[in-house]
Amino acid sequence: MKIIQRAKDYFYILRKGRKTKEVDQVRHLWTERGGDYYELQEKMLAEKGNSYFAQDELFNFIAKGEFYTILELGSGYGWNIKRLFKEYPGKNIVGIDFSRPQLLKSRVYPEIWDSNRVIILEGDITNMGLADKCIDISFSLGILMNIPPSNILKGLKEIIRVTRKRIILFEYFIPYCENKEFIKAAKKHPYIFSHDYEKMMKKLGCKLICLDENRGTPSDRYTFYEFSMPIEHFESPLPPEFNRLKIIACTKCKGTLIETKKGLVCESCGLLYAVEDNLPDMVLSKAKSIVV
Ligand SMILES: C[S@@+](CC[C@H](N)C(=O)[O-])C[C@H]1O[C@@H](n2cnc3c(N)ncnc32)[C@H](O)[C@@H]1O
Ligand SMILES: [Zn+2]
Repeated sequence: MKIIQRAKDYFYILRKGRKTKEVDQVRHLWTERGGDYYELQEKMLAEKGNSYFAQDELFNFIAKGEFYTILELGSGYGWNIKRLFKEYPGKNIVGIDFSRPQLLKSRVYPEIWDSNRVIILEGDITNMGLADKCIDISFSLGILMNIPPSNILKGLKEIIRVTRKRIILFEYFIPYCENKEFIKAAKKHPYIFSHDYEKMMKKLGCKLICLDENRGTPSDRYTFYEFSMPIEHFESPLPPEFNRLKIIACTKCKGTLIETKKGLVCESCGLLYAVEDNLPDMVLSKAKSIVV
């Protein structure tokens, strides 16, 4: 079995390159897990009395700053979006994830699905279909650790591109991780990667405003990082009005889209992004070339 898998991997790399293989495999894993991840998480939460330390800490961080629009990177089945929606009435929320089955699971929370202050889209964090600087705060909770080293810098640049004020990362970095068991398991795991966010974000012009590596519980895996954006991001005009066509942009050129019966269209690139089940699919490789 292993030999067959190795041979398959070998030919895949020959055809598409090592980087594409890693990225495709992580996406495939999450798409496959789309269904049962929700059940596993809900079970875990129910056992913990519906309170999860990491999420509570994340919300403490979010509460520290003013925002108009907030983005969850890798929003999965909408568990954090649901809480943001409840705790921040009047604020706008965007969620992006490349696992459609998980995104569709967020229908279990009809209040977020039906609201005009929530936009959810299918897309890859390393190349997002979002307009420049349209978000005040972007955050991730255990997501960037799924991005392979070959792609992480591209992902961070992309997050900075869309963000005006602050980026909050709740991610795994071996030197700050207290949970030795987790490190051991993660090292063997093919899709969990430790990245030095502080070093990379500073190189990209962001300022570290908070680092909290010691979370004080035995199950700790994550470090909290909070970064402020380069000054020109703060000084850019306020985020555009909150509606789909002002927030969602062409994944290729980041330009404005128009809404048609068939989906969202970028006239400059001649690309059509499908919108099925009211969920725009902004993954570039799935966009269709059209004549406009
Ligand atoms: C551990 S789950 C966390 C989901 C949610 N943030 C939560 O706290 O419940 C990781 C999520 O990240 C998504 N993900 C991983 N890499 C991604 C990428 N490059 N682009 C978009 N989504 C990604 C997966 O599909 C999955 O839903
Ligand atoms: Zn375009």
